[in-house]
Amino acid sequence: MASHCFFVLLLSFTLFASITESRNHTRLFFHPKKSSPLPNASPPLPSTPSPIPPKYTYVCNSERFAELGLDMSSFAFCDKSLSYDVRAKDLIDRMTLTEKVTQLGDKAYGVPRLGLPMYEWWSEALHGVSDVGPGTHFNASLPHATSFPTVILTTASFNESLWKAIGEVVSTEARAMFNLGYAGLTYWSPNINVVRDPRWGRITETPGEDPYVVGRYAVNYVKGLQDVVGSETTEDLNSRPLKVAASCKHYVAYDVDNWQGIDRYHFDARVTEQDMIETFQRPFEMCVKDGDVSSVMCSYNKVNGIPACADHKLLTETIREKWDLHGYIVADCDSIEVMFHGHKWTATEQDAVAQALKAGLDLDCGIYYTNFTEPAVRSGKAREDDVDKALMNLYRVLMRLGFFDGSPAYSSLGIDDVCATTSIELAAEAAKEGIVLLKNNNSVLPLNSNKYKNLAVVGPHANATHVMIGNYALEKGGTPCRYVSPIDGLSNFAKVNYQMGCANVACKDETFIYAGVEAAKLADATIIFAGIDLSIEAESLDRTNLLLPGYQTEMILEIANAATTPVVLVIFSAGGVDISFAKNHPNINSIIWAGFPGAEGGLAIADVIFGHYNPGGRLPITWYEADYVDKLPMTSMPLRPIDELGYPGRTYKFFNGSTVYPFGYGLSYTKFIYLVKSAQRSLDKKLLPRQQCRQMNYMPDTYKPSCQSINVEDDSCDDVINFEIKVFNVGQYDGSNVLIVYSSPPQGLLKVPIKQVVGFQRVYVRARKSKTVKFSLNACKSLSLVDEAGNTLMPLGNHTITIGDGDEAVSFPVRVKFNF
Ligand SMILES: *[C@@H]1O[C@H](CO)[C@@H](O)[C@H](O)[C@H]1NC(C)=O
Ligand SMILES: *[C@@H]1O[C@H](CO)[C@@H](O)[C@H](O)[C@H]1NC(C)=O
Ligand SMILES: *[C@@H]1O[C@H](CO)[C@@H](O)[C@H](O)[C@H]1NC(C)=O
Ligand SMILES: *[C@@H]1O[C@H](CO)[C@@H](O)[C@H](O)[C@H]1NC(C)=O
Ligand SMILES: *[C@@H]1O[C@H](CO)[C@@H](O)[C@H](O)[C@H]1NC(C)=O
Ligand SMILES: *[C@@H]1O[C@H](CO)[C@@H](O)[C@H](O)[C@H]1NC(C)=O
Ligand SMILES: *[C@@H]1O[C@H](CO)[C@@H](O)[C@H](O)[C@H]1NC(C)=O
Repeated sequence: MASHCFFVLLLSFTLFASITESRNHTRLFFHPKKSSPLPNASPPLPSTPSPIPPKYTYVCNSERFAELGLDMSSFAFCDKSLSYDVRAKDLIDRMTLTEKVTQLGDKAYGVPRLGLPMYEWWSEALHGVSDVGPGTHFNASLPHATSFPTVILTTASFNESLWKAIGEVVSTEARAMFNLGYAGLTYWSPNINVVRDPRWGRITETPGEDPYVVGRYAVNYVKGLQDVVGSETTEDLNSRPLKVAASCKHYVAYDVDNWQGIDRYHFDARVTEQDMIETFQRPFEMCVKDGDVSSVMCSYNKVNGIPACADHKLLTETIREKWDLHGYIVADCDSIEVMFHGHKWTATEQDAVAQALKAGLDLDCGIYYTNFTEPAVRSGKAREDDVDKALMNLYRVLMRLGFFDGSPAYSSLGIDDVCATTSIELAAEAAKEGIVLLKNNNSVLPLNSNKYKNLAVVGPHANATHVMIGNYALEKGGTPCRYVSPIDGLSNFAKVNYQMGCANVACKDETFIYAGVEAAKLADATIIFAGIDLSIEAESLDRTNLLLPGYQTEMILEIANAATTPVVLVIFSAGGVDISFAKNHPNINSIIWAGFPGAEGGLAIADVIFGHYNPGGRLPITWYEADYVDKLPMTSMPLRPIDELGYPGRTYKFFNGSTVYPFGYGLSYTKFIYLVKSAQRSLDKKLLPRQQCRQMNYMPDTYKPSCQSINVEDDSCDDVINFEIKVFNVGQYDGSNVLIVYSSPPQGLLKVPIKQVVGFQRVYVRARKSKTVKFSLNACKSLSLVDEAGNTLMPLGNHTITIGDGDEAVSFPVRVKFNF
């Protein structure tokens, strides 16, 4: 969403842009240098539309209609005995074209003469109800909401039930706030763009670099937000009730914000069909097909020359037809304007609006649809039918949300359901589950509070509060239920001597280092809180390097060199940081990555350090070495290495160089051992009569079978690979272990992933006990590769299934044969 940092953008424009404050957010409007006359025929907007007053909470309430001087029984759209389709059509058919177009922006003006109130579509709930969108606000009467860790840390838990549980709490708080008049019902979350490059400013919002993990996060979080208990299996998905509506964003190939002057409003992502299917679209496909999300948001950037929000193939043919979306497609804020002014895609505003409508865009976050659709229809550029179709998609969702009829299941939710004790505890639990232990030389952690009574706590994040909640949080007046800073959390276990170490994250000089060193010399142990924040990685701000800023490294080294007692380094960041110096430093005994841990972060970190929680999180992204960013520009989209240009591959699937810490890395205070207890090691795939064999690319001198692969899209493949892994906890501590399952293709194939995640589970195993974990993988999904044309092919031969990474990994082959 366009909500921050437009100053960077302004400089890169030959146009000038102005920032207009609307009710609760900053919105971007571009204006041509010479004020070009607005196309005529755009009638003035209706004045001050009113939302539903909180005393009614839903539209079809006869007293409400009576108060407006209307008779509800004369409006079929309020007749509950009719289907949503019939009711939505009735409503749309009653509107004039002028009335219709004013419903197509995030601020839908409503139609007073029909008893239809105003509705603000834009609310956000990335990791807690947020006040970034104008649909939600906080004030002195309701100032708080639960603030969970940012998504990259929550993802590191690799715990699907946690992801869903967070969605459930967030939607409960959202419903309570809706009832009280503070919030909407439509939330433009989650952000499920795959992290392709370590410099990207929005990594904190996302579930990391693996498309399958990102997709599973999306499915679980969306179900947590949307699903109404008891109606998950409603047959007609167009009438399936919704708790709140989620939106998976930003579709698609969107992960350049602003890098070396190239920004998302001008960037044209050149993407191969292979990367599109294999990486960029995969999480969106899962979100729609497996999560049944009720909305997808298209992105600012162009994809292969066409703005994403104007692309009929990407929107209508893919999301709506191929994946069968039940819901609406919305444009990222002011995207239609960006098409016109940024990408210079069309000659007029009307053309931009007409293209977007034709492509299948239902809702504009912005004012372009509202202002320019009527003239576009009148001049024959756009069709009123397309307007009606868009409105159908919008009203169906509002009806499913109970906007018209109410939602008895949630009508009793109120202020006590916001910041409930169990919700605050879940936020702390999420941080604990996500925290990743990166180094623990000689098992210095956990610290025993009987022995470590005096701590030096040093560094720019030691007293962190709002830094912990990241972005898309509480920014305009709302605050978390409470904060537990690192020094608060550690004070529960020991006496804390706090020193800043650096004035702030930028750490421009050495002024505060000396006091930190002196504190460390006197302490039983030193905990250093270093890292980055939104001044380094943020929306509209990509990183230029992977190092700690300013003098932070010096600060850490001086403390480590002076200390004679244990030193623990805690890193706050979303993207990876090259801390090789600390990884290899004998006096830095332990390193913890805490992401941006949410409002309860300090409590979670202290519980981990003092052994009240045994960490089990795993990195959801590769931590590259610093020189990685010198090897390829951020704007190069391919995931595979480009040998001619010397570009290395991207993500653990295609990067074979050394790393600071690899994807999936994470230690525990205990030790786990895996054993393959049982496994299905072959798959005899019976081919359909007309199923064709497809060619694969083999390395020279490799044996090439006659039937090399089959296209798994040709049949509905329900073959499964079953196996059981026994997990032994052979150490001293109870703890959770994440089993990450990878498949690797048969040897000899060219340009294929080194390996790919096909499943994962997090299990809790007591010390000296074991647990058997069952997996049942869809064979076609798990053993397939995407070819250059975008076909999903399952190759013949011996695939490998591997559980875990490095020394602890176990694996077994799966032999794929075809029977004719
Ligand atoms: C949209 O229309 C309103 C009312 O006519 C006007 O105030 C506003 O400037 C217009 N915005 C754009 C971007 O055309
Ligand atoms: C806070 O907002 C609510 C909902 O909009 C409103 O009813 C209430 O009067 C406001 N309270 C204060 C103190 O502004
Ligand atoms: C920590 O920061 C808070 C504000 O966020 C401030 O009130 C408090 O005094 C700080 N604590 C110390 C020990 O400096
Ligand atoms: C681990 O600690 C030992 C001393 O106990 C030290 O020799 C070694 O260098 C340390 N290793 C790392 C990677 O810090
Ligand atoms: C790693 O990938 C690069 C880039 O494609 C390639 O040139 C190199 O041979 C690979 N190295 C190994 C050990 O596979
Ligand atoms: C996964 O998350 C759920 C919900 O918070 C929690 O109850 C469970 O203990 C977690 N599982 C593991 C293995 O940590
Ligand atoms: C797969 O492995 C089996 C033995 O496990 C071997 O006989 C067979 O030749 C292998 N197939 C291929 C295509 O490499």
